[in-house]
Amino acid sequence: MCGIVGYIGKEEALPILLEGIKNLEYRGYDSAGFAIVGDDKKVSSEKAVGKVAALFEKISGRSFPGKLGIIHSRWATHGGVTELNAHPHSDCAGKIWVAHNGIIENYKELKKELLGKGHKFKSETDTETIPHLIEEEIKTLSFQEAVRSALKKIRGTYGLVIVNSDEPHTLIAARNFSPLLIGLGDGEYIVASDAAAVLKYTKNVVYLDDGEMAVMTPSSHKVFDLDMNHREKETHVIDWSPELAQKGGYANFMLKEIFEGPEAVENSVRGRLIAKEGLVKLGGLSDSLPLLRDAKRILISGCGTAYYAGRVGEYMLEEYGGIPVEVDVASEFRYRKPVFREGDIFLAISQSGETADTLAALREAKEKGVPVMGIVNAIGSTIARYTDAGVYQHIGPEIGVASTKAFVSQVSILALLTILIGRQREMSLVTGRRIAEELKKIPDMIRRVLKQNDEIAELARKYQKFNNFLYLGRKYNLPVAYEGALKLKEISYIHAEGCGAGEMKHGPIAMIDENFPSVFIAPQDSVYEKMISNIEEVKARRGPVIAIATEGDEKIGEIADDVIFIPKTLEMLTPILSVIPLQLFAYHFGVLKGLDVDKPRNLAKSVTVE
Ligand code: M6R
Repeated sequence: MCGIVGYIGKEEALPILLEGIKNLEYRGYDSAGFAIVGDDKKVSSEKAVGKVAALFEKISGRSFPGKLGIIHSRWATHGGVTELNAHPHSDCAGKIWVAHNGIIENYKELKKELLGKGHKFKSETDTETIPHLIEEEIKTLSFQEAVRSALKKIRGTYGLVIVNSDEPHTLIAARNFSPLLIGLGDGEYIVASDAAAVLKYTKNVVYLDDGEMAVMTPSSHKVFDLDMNHREKETHVIDWSPELAQKGGYANFMLKEIFEGPEAVENSVRGRLIAKEGLVKLGGLSDSLPLLRDAKRILISGCGTAYYAGRVGEYMLEEYGGIPVEVDVASEFRYRKPVFREGDIFLAISQSGETADTLAALREAKEKGVPVMGIVNAIGSTIARYTDAGVYQHIGPEIGVASTKAFVSQVSILALLTILIGRQREMSLVTGRRIAEELKKIPDMIRRVLKQNDEIAELARKYQKFNNFLYLGRKYNLPVAYEGALKLKEISYIHAEGCGAGEMKHGPIAMIDENFPSVFIAPQDSVYEKMISNIEEVKARRGPVIAIATEGDEKIGEIADDVIFIPKTLEMLTPILSVIPLQLFAYHFGVLKGLDVDKPRNLAKSVTVE
């Protein structure tokens, strides 16, 4: 949550900061602000409520000279969405400026103490305690020492960039449980919460770890722990091009990313399937093969869309992999005091690799000695680095807040894992081959579904008048029902509920009437007949029905009001196809309502607070 960028170097800081924060806006967009330190030690700062565009507009035609600066786009946690609460925050003297991503848990105690010492606070945020704390410490210490000493007093999570106008050639960054990396330029450094902000300038980055702070001048950078021990850091090269993070001709990122579904599956599967032998080769798991062979249970955890992908994985791994699986929403996992057993493997699923709840669940498992693995997209992200082994999704950046291509990729990787684990157990060569062959055909099948985009847009128009939707599925497509409802909620702010079709008669059916449409995910699979009966039950109560059905299914067209067809494939792979019309439906619904589908209200792409 929250995007932060810091710059120090030979160029004017502001254009680089603005460019960077634009690319990070998906992390939070309640308000934005910056502070620039000039060589003359003067600080110029501006803030605006709303998206980064509001800040651009506010400063248009004005100049903010300086080669050192920090910028922030906020996702509010403490304090309302106001200009006063927008970052960066400063000390009483207006010399020390801080942009922060995270939560300072002990800010109330610290603030009380600082108020007692005469500090004046301007905002309601937890963050503002940091510059005041540094101001207190700097009375007797150097800037660097003062930051270190202040950080030792803070309890909570932070990614921080800090400047001090008395030191116009120093930028300090620090991290504790909130992502932060340093882009290593030529005579310049760009610190950012993720790589999208630095790719235009450099592909070489250093990832800060928890409990580390970095001190940068235009010509040097040093990383320390909070006891001032020097830390040697590895330089990583990121191979994403900046163009990958652009819209590429689409109206917005969400549509672009839905249409990238076929490539997402191709890229996630490429080089990993040995179809002829019905086998799978996953480089990131090659050292873990004995562990996987001996595993007795897999515990999957993730949030939102990643969690639903995990639920599809549960069906696959149990039915074809022959291994017990439990799936938890990460935000609940550690609070329910999970009982671990010998032979458990924990698998985190996360597109961003930075989701705080998923990371917390992962830590819980790791601290209890369980081998931890991940399916992650963002290379070098915290979850990717914290796991013992894992599989990268290789789908490029996902910018739209609604997760779309990440889901189809995650489910494809879970299919690969199913073959791998299944073939280590009872799965026959024939079955392994069959899944592999079918998986290879999936990208073209998605392309066929995408061709119905116009019809789906029309359907969204037809159903615009409704304010409630029920999404129903069984077995492999039950998680897809939840995912479809989540997409509609987050993009259109329309009430939508996912429900097991078998559960409908235990309560939800009471809501059904001519004003309450249902979306049935009903491909011709092992639960098809049951789904048809459920559709009949809804129709008997005059409920409008949209069905996602298998191409050539004429029967369903006779009972459902509207049908979107998907190609026939193996039952376990249908979620990769059936989710596409639901993504498009939510997308068009949101667009027709005139909403910003890339940045829905109240949300952020990467939820780095608990
Ligand atoms: O980056 P992650 O995959 O860990 O994110 C998990 C969820 O926050 C994410 O899927 C969220 O639910 C999306 N907004 C759903 O579209």
